[in-house]
Amino acid sequence: MQTGRGDIAYVRKFEYNDLDRIVSLANSTLAEYYSHELIFDISEQWRDGFMVYVFRDEIAGFIAGSRHSQTEARVLLLAVDPDMRRIGIGTALMNDFMKLCRDQGMMSIRLEVQTQNTDAIVFYRKLGFVIISTMKKYYTDLSDAYAMWRLL
Ligand SMILES: CC(C)(COP(=O)(O)OP(=O)(O)OC[C@H]1O[C@@H](n2cnc3c(N)ncnc32)[C@H](O)[C@@H]1OP(=O)(O)O)[C@@H](O)C(=O)NCCC(=O)NCCS
Repeated sequence: MQTGRGDIAYVRKFEYNDLDRIVSLANSTLAEYYSHELIFDISEQWRDGFMVYVFRDEIAGFIAGSRHSQTEARVLLLAVDPDMRRIGIGTALMNDFMKLCRDQGMMSIRLEVQTQNTDAIVFYRKLGFVIISTMKKYYTDLSDAYAMWRLL
């Protein structure tokens, strides 16, 4: 995969102009509702930890994280356009995110995923995450979440 601006496909930091596309992608792919304000707030919390995957000048996926503690990062949002799945975009975003976390001295990473989201659970397992607990009624619709975790 090529990785620089001007190439066909690359990962870069989130920019304010991306907001509409990110909100639309988030609300068409993720379980919860995300307003422009919420996505903007997430981007402000940790600018480096919000990355987009650009393919042919369009955003095909994104990842947003937070610093859960000084040594642990958390994936808050990860989504890939349904038409662009299974070609490695989610993995590329996670790998860049994990590299950033390592570079910033973090030692582990955690995330939450709906217990019924088998696709994402398989995806995270392949990346080395393990389920460490179940959180009952975690989501707005009262569905349960697994907490998943891995060392960096
Ligand atoms: C989970 C998600 C981010 C994966 O993105 P992606 O770009 O399709 O993932 P990749 O192409 O990098 O997949 C890597 C591996 O994960 C596994 N995987 C990914 N999607 C899968 C699926 N639908 N079914 C089974 N395994 C899957 C496969 O092992 C895959 O490798 P392979 O294609 O060589 O078999 C994407 O499906 C998505 O956006 N889902 C909706 C949003 C979501 O659930 N986000 C996570 C919330 S916590």
